[in-house]
Amino acid sequence: TPINRLVQQVDGLTLDSVAEKFPNCYPEINPFDLYRAHLTNILAIITGVDSKIIYPSLSWTQGLDKGDLVLAAPALRIKGKKPDELVLEWAEKFPGNDPLFEKPTVHGYFMSFFVKGAPLVQAVIPMIRHYRGDYGCNKFHGLKDPKDPSKGKKRIIVEFSSPNIAKPFHAGHLRSTIIGGFLANLYQGAGWDVIRINYLGDWGKQYGLLALAFEKYGDEEALNKDPINHLFQLYVRINSEMSAEKEQIEKRKADGDDVTELEANSLDEQARRYFKKMTDRDPAAIAQWKRFRDLSIKRYQDTYARLNIHFDEYSGESQVSEEAMNAVGKEMEAKGICKEDKGAMIVNFQELVPGKEGKRLEKPIIRKKDGTALYLTRDISELLSRHEKYQFDQMIYVVASAQDLHLKQLFKIIELLGHKDIADKCLHINFGLVLGMSTRKGTVKFLDDILRDVADKMHETMRKNEDKYAQVENPEATADTLGISSVMVQDMTGKRINNYTFNMDAMTSFEGDTGPYLQYAHARVSSIKRRAGLSDEDLASADLSLLTEQHAINIVRLLAQWPDTVQNTMRTLEPTTVLTYLFKMTHALSSSYDHLQVVGSERELMKARMALYEAAHIVLGNGMRLLGLTPVDRY
Ligand code: ARG
Repeated sequence: TPINRLVQQVDGLTLDSVAEKFPNCYPEINPFDLYRAHLTNILAIITGVDSKIIYPSLSWTQGLDKGDLVLAAPALRIKGKKPDELVLEWAEKFPGNDPLFEKPTVHGYFMSFFVKGAPLVQAVIPMIRHYRGDYGCNKFHGLKDPKDPSKGKKRIIVEFSSPNIAKPFHAGHLRSTIIGGFLANLYQGAGWDVIRINYLGDWGKQYGLLALAFEKYGDEEALNKDPINHLFQLYVRINSEMSAEKEQIEKRKADGDDVTELEANSLDEQARRYFKKMTDRDPAAIAQWKRFRDLSIKRYQDTYARLNIHFDEYSGESQVSEEAMNAVGKEMEAKGICKEDKGAMIVNFQELVPGKEGKRLEKPIIRKKDGTALYLTRDISELLSRHEKYQFDQMIYVVASAQDLHLKQLFKIIELLGHKDIADKCLHINFGLVLGMSTRKGTVKFLDDILRDVADKMHETMRKNEDKYAQVENPEATADTLGISSVMVQDMTGKRINNYTFNMDAMTSFEGDTGPYLQYAHARVSSIKRRAGLSDEDLASADLSLLTEQHAINIVRLLAQWPDTVQNTMRTLEPTTVLTYLFKMTHALSSSYDHLQVVGSERELMKARMALYEAAHIVLGNGMRLLGLTPVDRY
């Protein structure tokens, strides 16, 4: 394998010895694992410190000018000597003829290590070409036992998107969809068995109300044509009717009238009764509701497909069985987790969990006075039944930080029920708000509205360059892809928890760190590839020792960081970890073009440079796809 080119440079080094000695060390797929291992071996001799301490202390640098790896002397915990003197001593002892590293540089108590360009280039480019779409993926991560693949994969459920049928698909759902899709890709790439669940808001009194609205104003044709919009319109109409009615009742009450009959026949009461029929599994009510649900799902699926997202299961609040909720309710009562309070069942966390935590968890209701279950009740049951059904090793809920308390309550109840093991497998991935989300055509109600608007804007921009535009095979589809990239990259730019402002002009610009810029970077390399017209054999036989320019070496140093970046992302679970890397890499690419011409160079040089650019193209494509983007080859 390509990494052997590096291994062979070092006397006495073998892949087996490295993999055995260091934890999570996979040099065959991650060049930096080999560099770290080799460097650790050298430093263990020089410092006398145990390898186990050195290996994890080698960290990434802020930028290429600071080296490829850096060691902070205090991390080695040597007593009695000043760390800045120690590093000077060690740097002095560092072999001057190491095949893989230059002599380290020292600043303060830091020691910076720069890898040698030539061996790196000759190992990493073939490695990327060898693994292609898999370069950066570490399939061992998802194995139950990394040493024994026959024991199978770990399983993770990623629950995300989870919109409410007949209600607007708001910014929270958009973010959940983008972040959840990304996390699912991330775990899949890391070899996990990933199950994507969409937990629809498809139950509750509001569906009773919706059914009433359909009885009154429903239009079969409109429903079939555009179920999401039609149901939403009905929902808006009936809701405004209901509030008008409520207002009237209040007024009559204030006037001292008897409103008993009015209330008994109110829309609110009718909706409650309708929903009661649904919970009693009345066949007609269930059939109607199921139609709304199925039609909505079909439409959602089309939109999700545009975002490269699919779900393995459309679950939802409706799917939680009353029996299961009753059973868990009884269990909670028996275990003293919930108790009656003014006819309702509540969880008084203050009495159950000591200190501030108990207070913060408040007093959620899990059964209303009329016996109906709530959002939280359904989540409790759903979590337990998912565990029974899927036996997951981990479950991620991608839900807005507005629901932090809800998920804390949920996980704590599971723990109090005696399932700490299950609660520990659950993780809430939260995120902040999107501010000012409206498009040119007004306030957004549905994901489709946003995507259509942004695509229109991209289409306009594309049209401005007539020559290029004429060559794009399917301009509408490309504009759509560029638009989606704009929205997604804007969303993934900051840390998840930060709020951001939806800014149509900024996100669709080709300048700055935007989605269109990434697509531009990708398309530019695609265009160089097309114009160079070299075959795969040409690239495979390229003489990579011709890549001596600092620009070329720097690109390869960045490409070598990709597997580490993905590993780090498994820890941060932040899309921005990937994006930051991709922008750093594309900036290095952009500034190299003037120095590393392909078309017009002498043939051998052309081959070598094209091999370099192709490697960059692969990594950029891998990164974009990991984020859920569709890389384009021209626009
Ligand atoms: N449908 C909910 C909402 O729109 C989000 C569901 C989150 N997932 C969960 N298991 N509670 O607010």
